[in-house]
Amino acid sequence: MKITIKEVSKYLNQEVVIGAWLANKRSSGKIAFLQLRDGSGFMQGVVVKEEVGEELFARAKSLTQETSMYVTGIVKSDDRSPFGYELQVTNVEVIHESVDYPITPKAHGPEFLLDNRHLWLRSKRQHAVMKIRNEIIRATYEFFNQEGFVKVDPPILTGSAPEGTTELFATKYFDEDAFLSQSGQLYMEATAMALGKVFSFGPTFRAEKSKTRRHLIEFWMIEPEMAFYQHEDSLQVQEQYVSFIVQSVLKNCQLELNTLGRDLTKLEQIQAPFPRITYDEALKFLHDKGFDDIKWGDDLGAPHETAIAESYDKPVFITHYPTSLKPFYMQPDPEREEVVLCADLIAPEGYGEIIGGSERIHDLALMEQRIAEHGLSPEAYNWYLELRKYGSVPHSGFGLGLERTVAWISGVDHVRETIPFPRLLNRLYP
Ligand code: 4AD
Repeated sequence: MKITIKEVSKYLNQEVVIGAWLANKRSSGKIAFLQLRDGSGFMQGVVVKEEVGEELFARAKSLTQETSMYVTGIVKSDDRSPFGYELQVTNVEVIHESVDYPITPKAHGPEFLLDNRHLWLRSKRQHAVMKIRNEIIRATYEFFNQEGFVKVDPPILTGSAPEGTTELFATKYFDEDAFLSQSGQLYMEATAMALGKVFSFGPTFRAEKSKTRRHLIEFWMIEPEMAFYQHEDSLQVQEQYVSFIVQSVLKNCQLELNTLGRDLTKLEQIQAPFPRITYDEALKFLHDKGFDDIKWGDDLGAPHETAIAESYDKPVFITHYPTSLKPFYMQPDPEREEVVLCADLIAPEGYGEIIGGSERIHDLALMEQRIAEHGLSPEAYNWYLELRKYGSVPHSGFGLGLERTVAWISGVDHVRETIPFPRLLNRLYP
């Protein structure tokens, strides 16, 4: 019976065959412990000399790291391991011997590991992070489907830029200039006018010269957009969505969270509603804390966000930023034109901003004025302006950065570990 490690609980005390790699091993005189991995999980195989005989025992003891094989054995329950099961090995058939695997069990530096990312992904820690990433993606589809959203796919190659023009990757589109998408938002607004509530999930590109633990050049974003939703309605969707994905990971990724040593109590309290403070209140808080380096109209930096987040157990919304700090499309507060109806959601424990969102301007004249003020070419936004010509409605949306969210929920320090092949300032390989 050929099975995967994930399925072993169904085969207690039965003999099974598992296609696996050797992640690690140790042996005493008469017993060899094989740390097996098969993609679905990790499991210990125990080879007892007296039971398997000299020849197989010697072979098992000499297996090298990352050798691939079919392992036959009897599934036993094992209370001492977090996984709960082990395999009493009865046979090993090597498929391919791995020689001099570069990532040995000792500690390696991050650059070496990133150079070997194609192999590093096999480690137990990276496996856990990728499984959590997968669970967040799965839960995202579940949440938005159950809330009546339609998944739509905005283009990657675009002619116009939603988030400003400085961080764009330019390319040629035959004879025309084109850009890699920074955000699908403008297209999501168009599809929201067709389908009501929509969300996208796709790669986005930012030619940002930032070398921090929160910045990737290529990252994945989930971008919901909702017709007839105002700022406050959107905040409610955001807090419910984020609570849902955290609770889904807690429910379905216990082993992975334990592998990563994540403090579960920190995640258990992530339940809507989330606290909200305005930019003005944030500034007052920071000044009271002794941050003299920031004045009204300045953007919040990572240390400011961290200081604010530290006062809360849950993610916190910072709302109503100065209009001058934000993109052209955000709706000014009708009561106070110098701020916009927007919010950044700051994750706890210093993980920084995971969501940026806003209510969008739906008045044509105001949108034209803002495009002009930002020095953008109205021709490039013709189609976008038409959304305000034909049955314009209030609408709102947001973008959640997947990698920062994975980093926070997994408790890993740097976004480079949260995407299979990170694109960083100095790294396009592997
Ligand atoms: O705040 P941002 O720039 O918002 C937008 O792009 C909007 N158009 C989204 C929308 O309303 N539909 O980016 C949204 C999120 C950030 O909060 C952050 O989580 C993530 O995207 N993000 C990055 N993640 C990794 N590396 C980078 N360089 C990122 N830049 C933004």
